[in-house]
Amino acid sequence: MKRTILITGGAGFIGSHVLRLLVNKYPSTLFVNLDKLTYAGNLENLKDISKKENYSFEKGDINNAQFVNLLFEKYQFASVIHLAAESHVDRSITNPNEFIMTNIVGTTNLLNAAKKLWAGNYDGKKFYHISTDEVYGSLGKEGFFTENTPYDPRSPYSASKASSDHIVRAYFHTYKMPVVISNCSNNYGGNQFPEKLIPLVINNIKKNKPIPIYGKGDNIRDWLYVKDHAVAIETIFKKGKLGETYNIGGNNEWTNLELVKKLCQVMDIELGRKIGTSEKLITFVTDRAGHDMRYAIDASKIKQELGWQPSLTFEEGIVLTAKWYLENETWLENIVSGEYQNYYKKQYL
Ligand code: NAD
Ligand code: DAU
Repeated sequence: MKRTILITGGAGFIGSHVLRLLVNKYPSTLFVNLDKLTYAGNLENLKDISKKENYSFEKGDINNAQFVNLLFEKYQFASVIHLAAESHVDRSITNPNEFIMTNIVGTTNLLNAAKKLWAGNYDGKKFYHISTDEVYGSLGKEGFFTENTPYDPRSPYSASKASSDHIVRAYFHTYKMPVVISNCSNNYGGNQFPEKLIPLVINNIKKNKPIPIYGKGDNIRDWLYVKDHAVAIETIFKKGKLGETYNIGGNNEWTNLELVKKLCQVMDIELGRKIGTSEKLITFVTDRAGHDMRYAIDASKIKQELGWQPSLTFEEGIVLTAKWYLENETWLENIVSGEYQNYYKKQYL
């Protein structure tokens, strides 16, 4: 039997990029994608690898402990890369419970199943938990999040991710489980659900709809191209030390307003519109409750210890991203024509 690795949440944005990278690069390893296919999960994201012999899909819910245990027995997973989560901050503000279930209980179910299967024999095993920089809270004008920054989550989403990180670390200390964690900054790129800022703005520009900016648009995020995150995940999976945490970031801070203006310019060029056309769509709307002011990652540990750093500049990445959404019109239309319409009305109109 091939070495088998479980990837959770592989039908989502980052998970699909991770799977594409690993399935193509490691043909003698079987990658099993466990995904519930929530509103954010989309098998279209994986259509280019879905027929590969070393890829298999299992539809299921990580909240279902019995199902998760059976899956571990069936495939005898050697390792886990855990990405499945409820991931959108705004949705966590209106419906925290799903975040508590999937992000905390679901993660614990996976840990328990791995612990049971591996039964103390941790040779060659790894449980890799993918987390976020939001667990560290909100920065002022100065400073960066390091791996030693105390946790200070401030939204139901980040609190649920922080909680899952603590549980993963507790399994390392208590049961000696072979875990590793990474905390990454904001990702952007193709296949991202258009509830998130960048694809939402691209879609609205295409349709000449107002671009909603929360508050004054002065909140700052540190943006990383999703394919660079996928390579960082591969690197940590292969070389990361057990029990360690690695911060991943793009060293690429933008206020939301400046980022959206930049994207407007890129879109004007791509759509052949006069520069300045899209910027007119910018509309300031009610701020997000508890909106974190600034995230910025100090990624020196992963650079120095594992040799990873971003490969693309933001100028390159944002053009690739705009082109992707314009070239994948059906992908975008299939999403924005469905349940998302109701979400959009409730959130913005
Ligand atoms: P996403 O929302 O695009 O995808 C999440 C995937 O998980 C979907 O395919 C969904 O169907 C699946 N899923 C959700 N609940 C599930 C359940 N109960 N059982 C099984 N599958 C379930 O998320 P993303 O942006 O790709 O984020 C992936 C991971 O990376 C998350 O853990 C997130 O917290 C983390 N992260 C995201 C970013 C970012 O900028 N997007 C940055 C840092 C960390
Ligand atoms: O930092 C990592 C996190 O980045 C991940 O853990 C999350 O899963 C991911 O969703 C992302 O969280 P953010 O809340 O930072 O991303 P979002 O795209 O929702 O928003 C980015 C910024 O843009 C944020 O300051 C809020 C603002 N915004 C967002 C939307 C959707 C707007 O001004 N208008 C909008 O319509």
